[in-house]
Amino acid sequence: MWTLLANLCLAIASVGKSLARRARPHVLRARGVRIGPGLHLEGPIDVTAPENVELGAAVRLGKDVCLAALPTGRIAVGDRVYIGRGTIIISHQAVTIGPDAMISQLCHITDAGHGTAPGQLMREQPVESMPVRLGAGAWVGAGASVLPGVTIGDGAVIGAGAVVTRDVPPGAIAVGVPAKVIGYR
Ligand SMILES: CC(C)(COP(=O)(O)OP(=O)(O)OC[C@H]1O[C@@H](n2cnc3c(N)ncnc32)[C@H](O)[C@@H]1OP(=O)(O)O)[C@@H](O)C(=O)NCCC(=O)NCCS
Repeated sequence: MWTLLANLCLAIASVGKSLARRARPHVLRARGVRIGPGLHLEGPIDVTAPENVELGAAVRLGKDVCLAALPTGRIAVGDRVYIGRGTIIISHQAVTIGPDAMISQLCHITDAGHGTAPGQLMREQPVESMPVRLGAGAWVGAGASVLPGVTIGDGAVIGAGAVVTRDVPPGAIAVGVPAKVIGYR
């Protein structure tokens, strides 16, 4: 009896999950996100200022990806981009991800920070933003951070755990904190 009830609950939960999965892209579109065909969501994601977020065709997003655009920001994700679970992208101005780029899990990409002028509380410092660009076919390894103003060139590779503070040329492999080019592929 109890086994039957448990199985029934599991079946209902599974139908609910499947319906929620199918509904997610429609919910995002209804909220104002511009979405190309073939969006694949591996789980729920978090989007703010959805009207400032654009997803190209066949984009794949992992569970708990956060696309946090401010009212002044813009997040543009190119065709066939993959973003791994738990990655956070924050835009006060513009973050552009080129087509076929891959961003691994738990990365942090931001186009803004705070000023550091002396004699002023950090929480009162103005926000300073500079656009971030990730080139076509680039790959950002797990847990990497990409800071404001950085352009990562087409096909470049960023090692796991790197903190990218300066531009990385196309095809370069950059690792470490701060990220340094160790070669080209
Ligand atoms: C960046 C990366 C691609 C480099 O691979 P590679 O070209 O084969 O480089 P190697 O393994 O030959 O390492 C070259 C040097 O860089 C160092 N290095 C490699 N990756 C590093 C990293 N992430 N951070 C710091 N140093 C790193 C190595 O220790 C080595 O140093 P040494 O010459 O002093 O011994 C790889 O190490 C990496 O970080 N991959 C990301 C994996 C990942 O995030 N997967 C998530 C799932 S998609």
